[in-house]
Amino acid sequence: MPNVNSSPMLKTKEAIEKRRSIRKFKPDSIPDEHIYELLNAARLAPSGCNAQPWRFKIVKDKEVKLRLAEAANNQMFIANAPVVLVCCADIKGYLNSSVSYIQDLGKNGSIEERIIKILLERTEKQKTLNMEQISPRIAFNVAIAVEHIILRALDFGLGTCWVRLINEKMIREMFGWDSNIHVVALLPIGYPDELPKKRKRLEIKDILID
Ligand SMILES: Cc1cc2nc3c(=O)[nH]c(=O)nc-3n(C[C@H](O)[C@H](O)[C@H](O)COP(=O)(O)O)c2cc1C
Repeated sequence: MPNVNSSPMLKTKEAIEKRRSIRKFKPDSIPDEHIYELLNAARLAPSGCNAQPWRFKIVKDKEVKLRLAEAANNQMFIANAPVVLVCCADIKGYLNSSVSYIQDLGKNGSIEERIIKILLERTEKQKTLNMEQISPRIAFNVAIAVEHIILRALDFGLGTCWVRLINEKMIREMFGWDSNIHVVALLPIGYPDELPKKRKRLEIKDILID
C-alpha cells in the first residue's frame, strides 16, 4: 500500500530546489524502513580516504528529544520532530582505521602510489594532534553524509533542519560519550507542517572569485 506521506521520486535538481529547513513537524511517526534508507544514503557518501567517520544516534524518546532541544540553546522545535539524528564523528575510530583504508585505496589502484605515501605520512602527523585540532578536519566528512540524508529524506516527503547551535559537552554527557565522539549536528526529521518560501540566495555572479 503506498505511503500517503511519500512524495514521488524527485529529480536531484528538483530536490535541491525544493528543500527547505523545516522547523514545524506533524506528529506522525516515520516508518523504520525510511530511517534505514536515510542511513543508507549517509553510508554511501564520499569521505577522505574512504574512512567513513560518521556515526549516528537515532533518538525517538520524547524525554531525550527535549533534552537535546535544551542542549541546542532551547530550540524547542527539535523536540517536536518524530526522530532526531545525533550526527557524530568517531575520532578514535578514524585515526585507528585510516591507515588500512588508505592501503585499500592503494591496493585497488584508485589512487596513485605517490599520493598514498603522502596520505599515510599525513595520517601519522594527525595522530599527534589534539581533539580540538583534529575534530574539524573529520567533521566535514560527516557534513557530507548529513546532506545525503537531507536530500534522500525528500523522497519520502520528509523535512529536516541542520542544527549546529549546540552545546556539544551537554550532548556528550547525556549519552555518556567521551571526547572521541565529536557531535557535529542534530538533525530533526519529520513530515513538514509548514511550507517555507524560497530563502534568499546569492546569485552565481556573487559567488565567483575574480
Ligand atoms: C551548518 C548549519 C548549521 C545550522 N544550524 C541551525 C540551527 O542551529 N538552528 C536552526 O534553526 N537552523 C540552523 N540551520 C539552518 C539554516 O538557518 C538554513 O539552512 C538557512 O537559513 C537557509 O534556509 P534553508 O535551509 O531553508 O534554505 C543551520 C544550517 C547549517 C547548514
